[in-house]
Amino acid sequence: MFGGRKMGTAKLTPMSVLIVNNDPAVRDMLMKLFSEEGYHVVLAGTGAEAIKIVTNSLVDCAIVDQLLPDFSGVELKRRLLKVSQRTHVMVLSSFTTIRSSDDVLRFGFSDFILDQKELLEILQKGIIPPPTAAVSASAGEEKCERLKKCLIDTIDVLVGLQEINDPFFGGNSHITMEYARSVAEEMKLPQETVDEIVVGALLRDIGRVGIKNEILQGRRKISDSEYKTLQSHCENGAKIIEQIDFPWKIRPIIIHHHERYDGKGYPSGLKGREIPIGSRILSVVDAFAAMTAHRPYRSRNLTKEEAIHELHKNVGTQFDPEVVEVFSSVVNRKFFYRGMGPKPKIMMAGSEIDYLTLIKLRLVNDGFDVLAYDNGKDVLESVEKTAPDLIIADTIMPEMNGIEVFRKIRELPAPFGETPVVFISSKDDPESKIEALHLGAEDFLVKPVDFSVLAARIRNIIRRDTKWRKGGGAAIAATGVVGDLKNLGIPDIVQTLHLGLKTACVSIKGPIGEGRIFFENGRIRHAERGSLSGEAAFYEMLRWQEGPFTIAHGQSTKLRTIEMDEMQLMMEGLRRIDEEKKEEPPE
Ligand SMILES: [Fe+2]
Repeated sequence: MFGGRKMGTAKLTPMSVLIVNNDPAVRDMLMKLFSEEGYHVVLAGTGAEAIKIVTNSLVDCAIVDQLLPDFSGVELKRRLLKVSQRTHVMVLSSFTTIRSSDDVLRFGFSDFILDQKELLEILQKGIIPPPTAAVSASAGEEKCERLKKCLIDTIDVLVGLQEINDPFFGGNSHITMEYARSVAEEMKLPQETVDEIVVGALLRDIGRVGIKNEILQGRRKISDSEYKTLQSHCENGAKIIEQIDFPWKIRPIIIHHHERYDGKGYPSGLKGREIPIGSRILSVVDAFAAMTAHRPYRSRNLTKEEAIHELHKNVGTQFDPEVVEVFSSVVNRKFFYRGMGPKPKIMMAGSEIDYLTLIKLRLVNDGFDVLAYDNGKDVLESVEKTAPDLIIADTIMPEMNGIEVFRKIRELPAPFGETPVVFISSKDDPESKIEALHLGAEDFLVKPVDFSVLAARIRNIIRRDTKWRKGGGAAIAATGVVGDLKNLGIPDIVQTLHLGLKTACVSIKGPIGEGRIFFENGRIRHAERGSLSGEAAFYEMLRWQEGPFTIAHGQSTKLRTIEMDEMQLMMEGLRRIDEEKKEEPPE
């Protein structure tokens, strides 16, 4: 419990302690002492710096040296309490004893001497409520935490809806918020500060309201006065939320999210730790999102690696070095796909407008560009104009149902006729499901759909389809082709030939010999591998993860050794592989 604060159900978060001292050695020693006990430590060398930090962020306790270059400890305590009444301020009267001994401190206005442990105990008694109070307050705290979460989710939805139709900034605030949250959590900031940063990230650009799009979008060079207007969005944003009594310090984050670490940013020219930690994080994630985002008016966006390199180049001048370090590691671990290149384009058709909007919001926030239509006819008319990467269709729609729309899409010339389609249905109707899958649908989902799963599936389908089209699809049709299972696995080949209703022979050189799979109009008719044939041969080949393959387009056989449906065949093969893995003894 030492150094922890009870939050929500059973979550402990570190308390934040600000150490104000002119002597770097003393600062470091105290930082080590408190960090080891689980406190979140912030350092300041002067009283002025401390006041800025307490003004802009949550500080539970400040330990202030009596002798500072600008104020006395007593004067600083008075000023800090004026800025934040919740901060517990302690004044240390002398550090001379620290210099002569590692274990002894002279503490407070009294003349008694404390060792480090006693200092920590006094600190704990002073700022952590007694256990009984904590228990009786826990139910109320839980409710309060739930309300805070609701408030954050509501802001997320409202901001998302505001951006939903913007081809440039659609989903931008949500994605930036997710980056910022991950960095704040990785830095082990107190939960209240993480929440503060999350809300700050969602609302940071709310002051853009009222600024013309042509200034915001950066398609042309803007004049000096237009640049000033653009800069005003920080203070305007703070004014917009001024009257709202948020349970967090959001205003400083919004006002200062364009400050630079070297003090050359705007609007206040704050530098280093004077800038709220939330603003320092937002400055990094905003820059990364902007560099990696696709914009039609520039030749290309930066790759993830190039953008991280740029962030590192500007460490210490534009960005906080620690934040860049943490962000680089977080973005590599948690955000594989986002922010890279043009957004995948999804076309949606459904008659339930509220449900359609909900999916659209979720997919836009997940980094997709989404066009939604309330009927199948409009989808059919738009496919060739907008060339979507994937179509999501509801099975039930007025006039033309989803399956009919799908049949018509398949009649369109390539590549539009080969666009992957996912169905979402309000009822689990096996007949429609089988029909859709036989027609080559990528998936058939029944409501309620888990939106995270939907987004992940869509991303995988598009990635595979892009690989197919770029890496072989077109060439296969023309020449008969060549690839490696490392890049395009057997399940991908099967689905694509099945989807395209192709007649072809796939010859594979696997790790233990060669095999062949024959397709006729998209159906698997025969497979052979050494002495094996039919399903057994197919299952054997399905295990192969690498090896060159050739697809001879139009080549067929009269042999009929496989009757099973392609999907069932694949499912059974994959199930067998899973079974075998389970039976393998652990290494
Ligand atoms: Fe901004």
